[in-house]
Amino acid sequence: MKILVSGGTGYIGSHTAVELLEKGHEVVAVDNFSNSSPEVLNRIKRITGKDVVFYEGDVRNRGLLNKVFDENNIDWVIHFAGLKAVGESCVKPLEYYDNNLYGTLVLLETMREHGCKKIVFSSSATVYGNPERLPVDETCKTGGTTNPYGTSKYFQEIMLSDLYKADNDWTVVLLRYFNPVGAHESGLIGENPKGIPNNLTPYVAKVAIGELSEVSVFGNDYDTLDGTGVRDYIHVVDLAKGHVSAIEGIRNVGVYAYNLGTGNGYSVLQVIGAFEKACGHPIPYKIVGRRDGDIATCYADASKAEKELGWRADLNLDDMCASLWNWQFKNPKGYDK
Ligand code: NAD
Ligand code: UFG
Repeated sequence: MKILVSGGTGYIGSHTAVELLEKGHEVVAVDNFSNSSPEVLNRIKRITGKDVVFYEGDVRNRGLLNKVFDENNIDWVIHFAGLKAVGESCVKPLEYYDNNLYGTLVLLETMREHGCKKIVFSSSATVYGNPERLPVDETCKTGGTTNPYGTSKYFQEIMLSDLYKADNDWTVVLLRYFNPVGAHESGLIGENPKGIPNNLTPYVAKVAIGELSEVSVFGNDYDTLDGTGVRDYIHVVDLAKGHVSAIEGIRNVGVYAYNLGTGNGYSVLQVIGAFEKACGHPIPYKIVGRRDGDIATCYADASKAEKELGWRADLNLDDMCASLWNWQFKNPKGYDK
């Protein structure tokens, strides 16, 4: 199949492009490089031996999207393009709503005009807010989001569901990611955060390589095994494969929501411990106060994806840390030479 991957040079988009190409699909990608590098395209070619048909530009640019759909007979769209930093979204809410909501709107309108009505959307566990029960399954209440980023994901899910209600020709797949971690086993592609990372594992990796001095652990007074926050970390390659399972497995119109996680929760201190094992030396950390908006525990019931798509995460926390360290070690400056 021919798949349009928006945000295709980003962290999850690039890993998904690799898995799609390895399975014999054709990949057309659009990215404005606001949070990625053109070098990613060379790396994808080195891994797969195949080219991505690439368009540089913004998904809010109707002219560009029309050109992409005019020039390519797209079967499915996998929509990753968007802004994703929780803290930044509180400071720049309008930029987040513009990019994430307006971007999706323009994309959906262009798809409709070209008769392409199958979309996989990058959603997030954040749509569950403070989950009503654990493990979180897809029937748990959504909404109650605590920041503009999360709210934009929740609104986009509603936008897509309303679209299906109005036009039953659409196939909408909402993939709710838990915490993506790690990198491709080649060490050629990985997460490349600009500036100081917001998320735990890229921060830990930068402390391990000596670029940052110590990890700040946000709170050790939660009601968890060691007092630190618990999350469901999932290897980015498993996550990427979940997208391939969705486009290959879903044959009927409708709205489908799936959690993509492992079902296991690990604390911040357990993650630091696993990373120490991967890099072979201690990682300095200090306990500081809780971070605003954080919840104690979140992990998935991902059995629906296994039952309906035949997908489940195979890689464990040690695999995630080992692959992240391999990427960090081989690319200390990310994609910058
Ligand atoms: P990323 O920033 O690495 O990738 C997003 C890509 O989209 C980047 O390459 C960026 O340059 C591009 N982009 C952004 N706005 C664009 C626009 N208007 N037009 C064209 N390109 C644009 O992020 P990621 O971690 O790969 O996340 C991909 C998607 O998954 C995002 O929608 C994100 O919200 C979602 N998600 C990520 C996580 C996570 O922890 N990484 C968790 C849940 C959901
Ligand atoms: N943490 C630290 N120190 C850090 C960074 C994080 O102790 O420097 C802790 C957090 O308090 C939390 C855990 O590590 O307990 C994980 O935090 P992350 O920032 O890595 O991830 P979140 O669970 O907060 O959020 C991430 C993405 C969201 C997404 C969510 C669920 O940032 O976009 O996963 O998918 F919505």
